Amino acid sequence: MTQACKLAAGNWKMNGLRADLAEARALAAAFPAPGCGIVLCPPATLLCAMAEAVSGSAIGLGGQDCHTQAAGAHTGDISAAMLADAGAHHVILGHSERRADHAESSALVAAKAHAAHAAGWVSIICVGETEAERDAGETLDIVLGQLAESLPEGAGAANTVIAYEPVWAIGTGRTPTLAQIAEVHDALRAKLPDRAISLLYGGSVKPGNAAEIFAIANVDGALVGGASLKAADFGAIIAALEAA
Ligand code: PGA
Repeated sequence: MTQACKLAAGNWKMNGLRADLAEARALAAAFPAPGCGIVLCPPATLLCAMAEAVSGSAIGLGGQDCHTQAAGAHTGDISAAMLADAGAHHVILGHSERRADHAESSALVAAKAHAAHAAGWVSIICVGETEAERDAGETLDIVLGQLAESLPEGAGAANTVIAYEPVWAIGTGRTPTLAQIAEVHDALRAKLPDRAISLLYGGSVKPGNAAEIFAIANVDGALVGGASLKAADFGAIIAALEAA
């Protein structure tokens, strides 16, 4: 069986001005050669400048969303082709903040992923339960349902990464127990159309908890929000993944 690749992805969300490129430069200096996969997903405004800042290093770039169409009359939107033109080859899709703030359905996420894959890029598709859903014992139903509905036709290890992000663990400093993460990742792995698709955990990953999370069998890496903004913190998480 082909092994899933290790990947550390940093999601800067709506954070970062040109001055913050110093953090990307510091990370690039710390990781000049490929070990595990590393992707930074800054706001679209920083993509071109960040591509220059990390050029020649092991760091790849990603967007935080894309449209289903390649171009057209869609004010405020960005296409996969535009992300690629700016230097990105990954795109986060279906993050819970977009599912909640922009009412994105899993069907829309699948259509966006289809567009990204057709253009040759890799989608990082996010799934995760709310705290109320976990309390109601619905976690596996929710995440497996989101997985089934968010994966486009043709999804495989070459074009897809899945991130399990419990909504209640994002930006809160709270994380599931290791057993809870393992339970969801085992269930996700069993339902993947291609078992070599990388499975990331996301939600309050920090230098202090990264190693124990990466030691879980079906965890292939992390999608990191807050701790990806500082090169020292994200670098420590990447080092823990390389050592896992
Ligand atoms: P966090 O965010 O690491 O700040 O919890 C994770 C994410 O939303 O991807």
